[in-house]
Amino acid sequence: MMQVAVFGTGGCGRGVMPLARRKWIASGHRYQLVFVDDNPATGECNGHRVFTYAEWINQPASSRHISIAIANGTTREKVVQRCMADGVEFFEVRADNVVQLDEVQISNGAILHSFVTLTSNIKIGKHFHANIYSYIEHDCIIGDYVTFAPGVKCNGNVVVEDHVYIGANSVIKQGQPGSRLVIGRGAVIGMGAVVTKSVPPGVTVVGNPASVLQKKFF
Ligand SMILES: CC(C)(COP(=O)(O)OP(=O)(O)OC[C@H]1O[C@@H](n2cnc3c(N)ncnc32)[C@H](O)[C@@H]1OP(=O)(O)O)[C@@H](O)C(=O)NCCC(=O)NCCS
Repeated sequence: MMQVAVFGTGGCGRGVMPLARRKWIASGHRYQLVFVDDNPATGECNGHRVFTYAEWINQPASSRHISIAIANGTTREKVVQRCMADGVEFFEVRADNVVQLDEVQISNGAILHSFVTLTSNIKIGKHFHANIYSYIEHDCIIGDYVTFAPGVKCNGNVVVEDHVYIGANSVIKQGQPGSRLVIGRGAVIGMGAVVTKSVPPGVTVVGNPASVLQKKFF
């Protein structure tokens, strides 16, 4: 029997499980679908068993398949590496009503929630998460381990580098062909931000127009 899991019983994982369930029911395979969580609160969650990773990896299996439902891109990458070392395969989760137009390349492990729209000529890296009602417009390049919270509006000709987190209802202004707007590696865009120009790597920006959130140390 195939062992199939959603990693994480947090809000992210519980939002992903119903989409994963629909996918695997439609597959016609024989499988067991469970949650995996390193710190499980209970042995059951929303009708599915919860195993620790070590328990799950010791279940008899013809093959193992997992979706990493962890919003933090750094933690997500660590879990991905652990799974790869154990020969676990990753599956894409995609709501039935996702819209995808022409020439969209998506690497493995993506999670595309309900009402996500990807228009044309878009490249997306590994283990991308797009939460409900997010969109990516034409000619964007999205890196690895990028997370879009609900309602992110990423307009055309934007580059989002690896490990960027974009908060709920943020709007990213379009770039230009040959002069894309770039959100630098590891940047965080606060919920509701209106990003009008490129964002340096590693900073957090908030507001309209978005500016760097200064940390208070006292
Ligand atoms: C931007 C963000 C990452 C900052 O988090 P943080 O470092 O913990 O910051 P704090 O909550 O301590 O807030 C620091 C200050 O920034 C302000 N602030 C926080 N987020 C803000 C935002 N999105 N827009 C404007 N101001 C914001 C706070 O009011 C606070 O101001 P103060 O110092 O004058 O009181 C976070 O607030 C955020 O927007 N996260 C995304 C949330 C989201 O989209 N969730 C979706 C879940 S599915």
